Amino acid sequence: MSTYNIAVIAGDGIGKEVMPEGLKVVQAAADKFGLTLNFHHFDWGGCDYYLKHNRMMPENWKELVGDMDAIYFGAVGWPDTVPDHISLWGSILTFRREFDQYINMRPVRTFEGVKCALSTPKANEIDFIVVRENTEGEYSSIGGIMYEGTEREVVLQQSVFSRHGTDRVLKYAFETAMRREAKNLTVATKSNGMAISMPWWDSRAEAISADYPDIRWDKQHIDILSARFVMNPERFDVVVASNLFGDILSDLGPACTGTIGLAPSANLNPERKFPSLFEPVHGSAPDIYGKNIANPIGMIWSGALMLRFLTADSGSGAEAHDAIISAIETTLKDDVLTPDLGGTASTQALGDAIKANL
Ligand code: NAD
Ligand code: IPM
Ligand code: MN
Repeated sequence: MSTYNIAVIAGDGIGKEVMPEGLKVVQAAADKFGLTLNFHHFDWGGCDYYLKHNRMMPENWKELVGDMDAIYFGAVGWPDTVPDHISLWGSILTFRREFDQYINMRPVRTFEGVKCALSTPKANEIDFIVVRENTEGEYSSIGGIMYEGTEREVVLQQSVFSRHGTDRVLKYAFETAMRREAKNLTVATKSNGMAISMPWWDSRAEAISADYPDIRWDKQHIDILSARFVMNPERFDVVVASNLFGDILSDLGPACTGTIGLAPSANLNPERKFPSLFEPVHGSAPDIYGKNIANPIGMIWSGALMLRFLTADSGSGAEAHDAIISAIETTLKDDVLTPDLGGTASTQALGDAIKANL
């Protein structure tokens, strides 16, 4: 029997409410498919810790989690007490960078039983993957404010696109498309307005595409690409995007399917040199925290992606993943729905139902 060590960081807000549901289902699936999981719970990475220690994570955080097989993460951010740029850069964005989790893989699909937000004829056939660059691009703290506080104030924020960083995410996206039936890839760009980075990004896509003659691919400007997510979402298969564009697309896609509450993500270091991190796409949702109505599916589905990744996308982890997805499908068909899905079920009731359907 294989044993895996998982760091559990619930973080802030509804991260604390959906994490127990995720653990419950992941544990049940692991038991069923013969995986032994050792969960290591950490109370840092969120804003409560910051308020006590003036930092988001302990100094030795890397030693504490660096040897884990994966990190299971809830959400971070509580802007009423800690500014977002401090909490996010001190926690989730640090994990992504320091553990070189350069792929953020975010599947998007519709489920029977969930009312799709769109009314286009094929809106119920949405099934695509957003592959988001996760360690560079527009997310940077390089820059500064000049002449601060004066009429001449100028703010500079640099984007960073390395060839190494760009090629590896594009390759990963082409590889992902190769494993799918449609073998179709959309490259998000904005080479008309962003005159330096994006024409270069497109040229890298051209170069990498030479190794993938079987993939049908095209470039689409991010503005019309967003519009097409709404007008013809069923046409997309794999979409690769820079850090910021991918962030936006991975909220827009799930919103089109009905709610962002069910969207999962896998922050991957594909080489497995460092632990990968699995978390829902959504944040801490201060507006609903404490009401026990948060949808736990994003957390649970992320747990399924984690189990699959742990066993290298095959074997018992892949079976456990598929079983969790089937249980989610059954539960949604049975109308066990939290309010964001149009129902009245509580966070726990939805988690319990998914566990029972495993
Ligand atoms: P959010 O994702 O927390 O919430 C956006 C909206 O979606 C809210 O109305 C919320 O109620 C709803 N929502 C989100 N998840 C839901 C769920 N599981 N079930 C039902 N409804 C859900 O985004 P925000 O309000 O912009 O951010 C709140 C905080 O979370 C901020 O501090 C932000 O920086 C942070 N954040 C963190 C992450 C992360 O940890 N990876 C991701 C996004 C936002
Ligand atoms: C996400 C979040 C984060 C991001 C924020 C909170 C920094 O929105 O995981 O999508 O932009 O990557
Ligand atoms: Mn986001």
